[in-house]
Parts: sequence; structure tokens; C-alpha cells
Amino acid sequence: MEMNSPVGANVLDTPGIVGKPIDRVDGPLKVTGGARYAYEVQENNVLYGFVVEASIGKGRIKSIETRAAEKAPGVALVLTHRNAPAQGTGNHREAHPVLTGPQVTGYGQPVAFVVANSFEEARAAAYLVNVKYDRSNGKYALRANLNEARVPKPSDAPAADSAVGDFAIAFASAPVQLDVTYTTPLQSHAMMEPHATLAMWDGDKLMLHTANQMLNQGQQVIATTLKIPVENVRLISPFIGGGFGGKLWVNADAILAAIASRQLKRPVKIALTRQQIFHVTTHRSDTIQRVRLGTDREGHILAIGHDVFSGNLPSEQTYEGAALQTRTLYAGPNRLTRHRLAPLDIPVASSMRAPGESVGLMALECAMDEIAEKLNLDPIELRVLNEPSEDPEKHIPYSSRHLIPCMQEGARRFGWDKRNPKPGQVRDGRWLVGIGMAAATRGNPLLLSKANVRLGPDGTCTVRMAMTDIGTGTYTILAQIAAEMLGLPTERIQVELGDTSFPQAAGSGGSWGAGSSGSALFEACNALREKLARTAGMDPATARFANGSIASGDQSRKLTDLVGVGMDADGEIRPGRNNKDFSQQSYGAHFAEVGVDEDTGEVRVRRMLGVFTAGRVLNAKTARSQAIGGMVFGVGAALHEEMTLDPRFGYFVNHDLAEYHVPVHADIPDIDAVFLAELDDQSNPLKSKGIGELGICGAGASIANAIYNACGARIRDYPVTLAKLL
Ligand code: MOS
Repeated sequence: MEMNSPVGANVLDTPGIVGKPIDRVDGPLKVTGGARYAYEVQENNVLYGFVVEASIGKGRIKSIETRAAEKAPGVALVLTHRNAPAQGTGNHREAHPVLTGPQVTGYGQPVAFVVANSFEEARAAAYLVNVKYDRSNGKYALRANLNEARVPKPSDAPAADSAVGDFAIAFASAPVQLDVTYTTPLQSHAMMEPHATLAMWDGDKLMLHTANQMLNQGQQVIATTLKIPVENVRLISPFIGGGFGGKLWVNADAILAAIASRQLKRPVKIALTRQQIFHVTTHRSDTIQRVRLGTDREGHILAIGHDVFSGNLPSEQTYEGAALQTRTLYAGPNRLTRHRLAPLDIPVASSMRAPGESVGLMALECAMDEIAEKLNLDPIELRVLNEPSEDPEKHIPYSSRHLIPCMQEGARRFGWDKRNPKPGQVRDGRWLVGIGMAAATRGNPLLLSKANVRLGPDGTCTVRMAMTDIGTGTYTILAQIAAEMLGLPTERIQVELGDTSFPQAAGSGGSWGAGSSGSALFEACNALREKLARTAGMDPATARFANGSIASGDQSRKLTDLVGVGMDADGEIRPGRNNKDFSQQSYGAHFAEVGVDEDTGEVRVRRMLGVFTAGRVLNAKTARSQAIGGMVFGVGAALHEEMTLDPRFGYFVNHDLAEYHVPVHADIPDIDAVFLAELDDQSNPLKSKGIGELGICGAGASIANAIYNACGARIRDYPVTLAKLL
């Protein structure tokens, strides 16, 4: 189906199982260990691989001595650039060649892959590989290399610059001006399950059990890299222990295992160690963001500007799109956003947890707080004043937008009216207490997805897609959609995901997963309903599906009597005009209360509330869980998370979870997330919008704004650690 017209009333509009807070259908498998993750798949005759990482940031391998490793117990192969095959190339979203030559382009780059009978033997032998390097001077730190920054030209992301009106003149003449620079640090995804792959070949056909968010994309990347036909690559990934963007693309584990397995004609298994993940896979670039706001004396924005620097490898065009939401969130006639990318010799930077908005809003939404204070305006009032009637840069309507109701409902629930706008006024013992808010927004793309749904003679319905569930609840919402549309209990729905031999799907990322895969399934179920109705001799337009039967007028037939040996149908959703003719975002408002210890600068988050609108909510429980998960990472971004770069050598010093701090239970307070009713009849047949990344967007800014309200310190350099507050 091409999405080019408004979605009319459909079967989901009547109350049913879709939207209900049912438990995850895969929950019992996960808590009993029945869910098999990539590394847990058992295979006979398997070998284990261990990566040897480069210990320089930039330079060349002068010599690599592998004989000791090759003679070590249990070792089957030591792969280096000398014996690795030629591979296809491209940016990190197109290909992932490994061991291509003596050059080192980033610290931790794999320089050898040791394969042995056991993990321990492989690891022990890896330490016997002796590499000598010619080190050259690398460019490592973003701030030190801004003069080299250029305009990135990615083929798969919006243009780096946007301009409307005349920003420079309007800003210069604005009665009230704010010109502030915020910085966000290098960040790592820190998902629970490490990157892992089991590779095996059957003739010239490759099968990979691997942890990957976008299987069809991954299948193509692996085919390109290994120079084999895409149909010879099969990826299997039914369970994934978190991704957060770190498993969107193919990483070295998959390619190394595939190459070694082909050479050895045996299955090869690898899991990156926690420490290796930080350098061998992707991370989020740090950013330097200058936000300029010019308003009239009442607070109407006259000029809004957002300039962003991020860094990446010289060969990459992927930039951190931190100014993208600034193009659409608030009104204002004169606008300027620019992204610049500095070439750096550190591991590749890519998508992480709401790339763009999650760090962009940490600047924009604090700048809004700052100018509200200058204007002597309530921060919510300022945002209401600048609510746009259409997308201010694309000049197209919003598909649906309820930011103001989110802010108002949140203010009511949170007790915003009790906020003292003057900082440093509220005490609770040794704590200075403050509250802050910020807007949330995240785009809602729709991606090509296909689905097959089959009803068996025993009344069991099987849904198949090459979709993934990274812990977000995909299995569950797909079961709900099929159950409701076919009038079956969810227990009768068997959802099978995570296999490229199933119909192509968008995968999990960019908040598009549920909308895209759910819409494809919606279309497949519609097609199956039509087939069933015709078989029953009923009019598909009026047939009703309930309790395992189809009914029309006073006629009723059991579905199992209609399907014969089984009946199936395919469905497909394609992005169409809805992606171009409407500005589509999910919205929300974050509220946070913090305490700041007057003497030590310690910050404790005391309460958090997020109020969101994201079209139809497909499962109230998994939606809330995702929103809360995002808000927890907002705490991490505001207070804890930072990879520290050693600017001399280009490596991330704190490459483990002991020193790269993500929030733990003790950091997380009373926290709640609420979704307000909304249907978006321009988004997709489900009338839903993306939820996955909405919770993190703006959450960190609400905490920073609360810190300012508590103690009067405006820290523009994230994370807000106590050393910066003192
Ligand atoms: Mo997300 S960073 O698109 O997994």
C-alpha cells in the first residue's frame, strides 16, 4: 500500500486488544532462559574467535608476528591483513571490510582475529600476537580540530544546512537575545548483550546468528563486504539484548566470523568483550552546539539559530543531527541551522539512542529555559507563545501535534504551579530543590516492510517478518494486531521474527519499527480477512471477525472450517507521500525535580514525569516501559555518561561499565510516563507514531533546567557532574 491518502476509520478504531497493557508474549521465554541469543546458539564442531585490537590511534602496522599464536594450544587460524580476503568497501552503513591492510584508522581497530577450539585458547593466543606499529599523528579531539570541519553530505540523512528568512539581521536586531554554547560528550550505547555472531557456511551459503537491529540492511552489507550474492546470506536474530543503535549496522564480529568460518569450513563464534565494544563498534560523537535565540519583548521568536559540530572518520558523512528538531519545534520567521563534521581519527561515530534530538534538545531546551528567564516568562508560556501552525521550514502541516496539551497535563500532574522561578529558594535539609521542564519531540518515519500471516487448520495464526525485537515489545504488539484483526485470542498468534528468510522488514531503529512492521501486518491481515470472507461467501466490507469466527448478517462460520490445509496472505507498507506532505513527529513534555547538595554538589533526581502523544498506543505497558527507559537514559545523559578521550592517543579511557556510568536503580527516582489519547490519520494505517526514542528526547534538558532552578548554576557542558557545580 502506498500511503498517499488519509487513513479512514478502520477495524482498530473499535475497542479491542490493540492498546491493552498485556504482558510481553516473549516474557516467559526471556525470564526462563528459553530465549536464545546469538551467542547461546549451540552448534557442533564450533570454533571461537577473539579480536586483537590496534593499540595505536593512527598509523601503520610495521610488522605482525603470528607464529607463537599459531602454535598455541587449540589454535586453528590467525587471520590478519596478510591472509584476509579482498572485500567490498563503502561507508559504515554500506560495507564493513576488516583486516584490509596495514593501515590503522582508529584505536581498537581489529588487526588480527585468532580462532581456536575454545574461547580461552583463542584469548590466550591473541595475547601472543606481536604487532609493531609506525605511529603517525592523528586528529583525535573534536574541539582541537574544528578548523577542519566541513559540510557533511550524507545520502541517507537530511541536508546539513537549512535557512529561512534572514537569521543574521533578525538576530542582531532582536530586542532580547541569547547566544549560548552547549557541549555533549562522547557516548556509548551500553546495551546489555555484547555484539555476538555465530557464522557457518553450507557450500556458498552463509548463515549468521547475530545480534542485529536491521536484518535486511545487514544482509546487504554482509553481501557487499564479502562480495557474494545477497540471497546467499541469511541472518537470524530472534532475540536481541538491547541495541540502542549500536546494532543497527554490521560490526566486525559478523564479518570476522564469516571470513574465518569460510576459510576453516567450520562454524565460528565470537562475542566482543565489554571492553572491546567501546572501540570495535560505533559510538555517538561529542557535540559543540551554539544556540542563538532572538525574541521580541513578549517572547515571540524572531530568529532561531543552531550550529552543531560533531566528528567522524574522514571517510564518513554521518553527522550528529542535533539541530534537526530546531527546524520544526518552534515558530519563528528567521531560521538557520548548520551541521559541520570534523574529520577525526577515532572509531566510527554513528546512531545512538535518538540520534540528533536526544543531544540536540539538551541544548535547545535549556536555551529556551534561559531565554524564558530573561523574558521573565514561565518556560511553558514561552513555548505556547511559539507554537507553530505549520512546519516553519517545510511549510507543510503537522500530521498531528499536541505539544501544548502534553505540557499542560504534565504541569497539572507534576505541580508546576508550585515552582519558584527564582533559583535557590527551595530547601529540604542540605538539599537545594528545583524543578524544570523541557519539550520532547522525535520524528516518525515509515519504512518499507512486508509481512505474511497464515491461519492453520488448528486455528493457530502464524505471523512472519524479518523484523526484530530488541526488547521493545515487537512480538507483543504484532500479536495484538493480528489477534484483533482476525478475531482470535493472542495465545493463538505465533509471531516469528528475526530471520531474513521471512518477508523483508524495516527492523528496529529510528522509532519506525512498530509503525512500519505493524502496518505491514495490518495490510496482510486485511488481505487474509478478504480471502476468508470470499471463501465464506460474505461481503469483505461488512464481515466481522470475533471468537475465531467470521460473521455477516446472521451468518457465522468458524475460520477453521474455511482455511482448508491453511490459508495465508501477504501485506506490504511503503513510505509514500505521508513522509513528504506532512511534518510527522511524536511529542511530549518532561518534568523533573532534583536536589543539589549545597556542600558537595551532588545531584539527586527526586521525581520525573513524562507526558507524551504518539498517535495510537499499541500496548500501553510496553509503550510506558519504553518511555521510562528513555527517561532513564536522559538521566544518564544529563548526569553520568561520558566517554573520556585520551587526546594523545585517540582512545576511550573508560571503556567498561565500571567507569562509563549509566544510571543504576539507586539513581532513578519516582518516575512516571503517561500517554495522552491521540490518533494520527496521516501517519500509517495504525494511526500510530514512534515511541522508541521519544522518552530520551528532552529528558536530560528537564534535569539540567531543574538543577538551575535548584541552585542557580547553569552548566552548559554535559554531563552535569558535581565538579562542574562547585
Ligand atoms: Mo536507534 S539509534 O535508530 O537504534
